[in-house]
Amino acid sequence: MKRRFARSHRWHHAQSIDELAAMARQRLPAFAWEYVSAGAEDERTLADNRHAFQRWQWRPRTLVDLSETDSRATLLGRDCAMPLAIAPTGYNGMLWRDADIALARAAQRHDVPFTLSTVSCNSLEEVAAAVPEGRLWFQLYPLRDKQATRDLIERARAANTEALVITTDAVVLGRREWDSRSYLSPRRLTPGHTLDALCHPRWAAQALWPDSLPTLGNLLKYLPAGQHSAASAATYIGQQMASDLTWDTLTEIRRHWSGKLIVKGILGAEDARRCQQLGADGIVVTNHGGRQLDDSPASLDCLPAIVDAVGQELEILLDSGIRRGSDIAKALALGAHGVLSGRATLYGLAVGGEAGAAHALTLLHEQLHNTLALLGRPRLAQLDRDCLSPSPQLSPSGAPATATAQPATGDLP
Ligand SMILES: Cc1cc2nc3c(=O)[nH]c(=O)nc-3n(C[C@H](O)[C@H](O)[C@H](O)COP(=O)(O)O)c2cc1C
Repeated sequence: MKRRFARSHRWHHAQSIDELAAMARQRLPAFAWEYVSAGAEDERTLADNRHAFQRWQWRPRTLVDLSETDSRATLLGRDCAMPLAIAPTGYNGMLWRDADIALARAAQRHDVPFTLSTVSCNSLEEVAAAVPEGRLWFQLYPLRDKQATRDLIERARAANTEALVITTDAVVLGRREWDSRSYLSPRRLTPGHTLDALCHPRWAAQALWPDSLPTLGNLLKYLPAGQHSAASAATYIGQQMASDLTWDTLTEIRRHWSGKLIVKGILGAEDARRCQQLGADGIVVTNHGGRQLDDSPASLDCLPAIVDAVGQELEILLDSGIRRGSDIAKALALGAHGVLSGRATLYGLAVGGEAGAAHALTLLHEQLHNTLALLGRPRLAQLDRDCLSPSPQLSPSGAPATATAQPATGDLP
């Protein structure tokens, strides 16, 4: 049944991430909405990331003392309000001015880590200065220019970044056909964009810089003088993605970076084991939110086998498709230590900046609490595979092939 959502300017009344997404869709011009929401090619992986959560049903217990329901967690050895960090996302300035600072402040307010993308609009130094008490992780795309890569790592160290997150699944960009259609010349406003922007004045007043889209703050120092526009930065990063990124590169980075190291882009147990062998502290099980290889498996479907292989040795984070607190709980029940939020917090950002992103985090946090209580497992540590069974409507044919890891009780598919 179709329910009614509030109007987009009443975003603080939104009750779910899907409602924030519907509001963001109203508020943004088409090219910005498509950039955030869409996936690669036929978007089957994008859709499956959500379906994967529906394929599991809860097995609630009752008559449990719920007087101390608690969703505090530990990520990378430090306490935080819930088992979630904000995922790295590039070009956030397309949604809101100083968007990376807004997201970092929302994360600080909610006592969770924030991951800044290499292709952020605000620079590492700006974000670090804005959230001196916050937990800042930096996502690195290793560049062809080795000197620039080393410099980015040095800047991350100087900014007191807690963790370096190396993204391995975007060396070659997925075919995002909607994005190619929107940007015949990358990140340059065309007359069509301008018309679209004029039809979305609240977005334009907030997001557009005086004459263009915002540029990429971290990369300015590597661009030729006089070529600092969004279009030049997009061209630079397009040419700089290191196609020779291999395990050797990761070993080299591990040698130079003594802080926490997370490898983002893992979908198989074999790769997870290699990350552990080279000394990574954690991995992100992800398909990049369905934006890279279409028909990749949903991240959640890959999780049990990876947990069985390295769950004791590595911190396992999962992203792609997290839209509810119950999704976070399902990921934890299947063995993840925490999750990353990509679009969920971006939709909040797009409608209300820092306060909107904070509202998205509040929704996820409240929903997680509610799930723990209704499930009769008031502590995160009580979430395990015994809490879940495959949905009868969607299995066995709808059940994922990889979701065959048996719990101790032996009642999973
Ligand atoms: C608009 C957008 C930009 C992204 N940019 C980056 C990026 O710069 N670096 C990166 O490692 N991942 C990037 N990602 C992937 C996210 O970190 C994350 O893996 C993904 O959003 C998770 O899926 P979800 O959006 O369904 O939560 C991006 C995702 C989106 C939606």
